[in-house]
Amino acid sequence: MVRLFLNLTLVGFQLQFMQFQYLTLVGVAMLVRLQKLIQLLNDGDFHTCKSLGKKLDRSYSQVLRMINDVIKMGIEIESVRSKGYRFVRKLYLLKKKKIEKYISRRFLKEIVHIDILDEVDSTNDYLMRLANAENKKIRLCFAEYQTHGKGRRGRIWCSPYGTNIYLSILFPFNKDLMSLSGLSLSMAVTIANFLKEIGVKDNIGVKWPNDIVWKDKKISGVLVEVLSEAFNENQVIVGVGLNLHIPKKAAEIIDSKWIDLESIIGEEYKRNKIAGVLANRIMENFYVFEEKGLAAFMKDWKLFDVLQGNTVTLKTGVEKIKGTACGIDKQGHFILERKDGNRQSFSAGEVTICK
Ligand code: BTN
Repeated sequence: MVRLFLNLTLVGFQLQFMQFQYLTLVGVAMLVRLQKLIQLLNDGDFHTCKSLGKKLDRSYSQVLRMINDVIKMGIEIESVRSKGYRFVRKLYLLKKKKIEKYISRRFLKEIVHIDILDEVDSTNDYLMRLANAENKKIRLCFAEYQTHGKGRRGRIWCSPYGTNIYLSILFPFNKDLMSLSGLSLSMAVTIANFLKEIGVKDNIGVKWPNDIVWKDKKISGVLVEVLSEAFNENQVIVGVGLNLHIPKKAAEIIDSKWIDLESIIGEEYKRNKIAGVLANRIMENFYVFEEKGLAAFMKDWKLFDVLQGNTVTLKTGVEKIKGTACGIDKQGHFILERKDGNRQSFSAGEVTICK
């Protein structure tokens, strides 16, 4: 700390850099302490502020502030006057070793790194910052908590601590941008099939363009971002959010109908297994897509499509059109049939079923 503030005659940007470093150090120290607090509370027992303070070398009020921070991260905490604080439910935190067990050898060779982050703004943004043109390998990033989880169309992706899956995968992609059209739809089909594989027997569907729903409630979403376009060497980030358990308080910010896996199949799932198998399926199907395009997923899309045949409203940036949903075309564009029988394809928009 002292060393960082020694020479105040430094030129502006150096000073700013040092202050940044200092703040980063403070931030890291705080995060480490929060992590330790989470570990302590995750044993299921009650802890008083005094006992936590002793273990963390913090004062009573500092511990109280930390507990508030933990609550803000979406963790459910119970407090009882004479006993102290405890987690309402145990968190099964992500462990790299456990996740790797479910990733096939073929991919482990292709992967340059698997990041398991405690906290990050967005796993997509994290990989975007790390991407570079020379990277010819896959990189995975899981996080326990996202402070700025991103959904499609500038929406927030609700990302409470330690309960769901927030996963991004960075792929080198050696084809032109046009051939990427349909990737997010293929990934939605991949996740729908994955949910069937892990025990969601019925009612799983996809809603154009890439929502994965159970009945009409969203359980998962995909955000595909493309990074560079030089000499046909694009890099693609596939970001997946999958709801396993959404605490009530955290759900207050979600403005659409949602569901989590626990409400469908109960608590008998293993979070690390889900993380590993899901990543594996996404990597497998990314290569299927790279080779065969959306055509390889068309049959399954039709099976999962919850809009097909329904009267819907499509909201584009400028208009609201009513019509019948008629599936997707080869590019993955949404086909809408108007009242007069005319059909039109749309590459973007928001579709709702008319009740
Ligand atoms: C959507 O349906 O709107 C897309 C949601 C995508 C959310 C995931 S969570 C992991 C990755 N990081 C983000 O910030 N977003 C994606």
